[in-house]
Amino acid sequence: MNKLIKKTADLILSSKKTIALTGAGISVESGIPPFRGKGSLWDKIDPMEYAHINSFLKDPEKVWKGLLIEMGEIISQAVPNDGHKRLALLEKNQLLDTIITQNVDGLHQFAGNTDVIEFHGSFAWQRCLECHKPLETTRVDLSKIPPECECGGLLRPDCIFFGEMIPEDSLWRSRKISEECDLMIVVGTSAVVQPASMMPEIAKKHGASVVEINPEETPLTDRITDCFLKGDAGKVLNQLVSTLGIK
Ligand code: OAD
Repeated sequence: MNKLIKKTADLILSSKKTIALTGAGISVESGIPPFRGKGSLWDKIDPMEYAHINSFLKDPEKVWKGLLIEMGEIISQAVPNDGHKRLALLEKNQLLDTIITQNVDGLHQFAGNTDVIEFHGSFAWQRCLECHKPLETTRVDLSKIPPECECGGLLRPDCIFFGEMIPEDSLWRSRKISEECDLMIVVGTSAVVQPASMMPEIAKKHGASVVEINPEETPLTDRITDCFLKGDAGKVLNQLVSTLGIK
């Protein structure tokens, strides 16, 4: 493992443009359950029944009660863990340019990263389906479910449901920086959801090295990954940062 950490540190130091792609795994140590695997969200509830846009539009009360209220509670209590903090430290030392995250919890920004592409949107905001006005999630009145905007319209989270498109600017910029980077660090994603999982493929195809941090192998590990750092994000990133000797 030490050899692989050293190899990754060297890749970081020689790279002119390094980006990260993160998924639910990086927030597990902050108490947010992942979507897949043991104890995961999709183990408990069927995503097609609770996280598809058609299910939300058909029965918003069911989706708010079965998914969104709990998601809001979990996210509002979560704080950045060592994984988030070490990625922020890499940016502070000009060793990381941008994070593409599939997470909607805002913890990378909370930890201090300033250039974060929220590929699947953000749970920090809701918007009205009628007047499109945004409202901070912390200000939503949950005494009536589904909650409503002051105009009486239905509120929905500003993140994407299954069956919806990735916002065009996020997709365009993520593709562009994946093409341009020399190194992509992929942390805590099962890499099974498109199009996010295409980004490491794009990076690799354009000559970048790919480092993966995950306790489990993924479909990328054998095909795309140059350096697989097996373990929890916080622990591995702590080791990496101490090898780099940055503060
Ligand atoms: P998943 O839940 O699919 O995968 C989480 C990954 O994190 C797995 O590969 C785990 O092995 C790994 N993992 C678990 N604990 C970890 C830890 N402490 N440190 C590092 N890695 C750890 O989550 P995503 O890949 O993010 O989309 O899922 C992608 C998308 O599927 C989500 O954005 C969401 C979901 O449906 C939407 O809701 C639109």
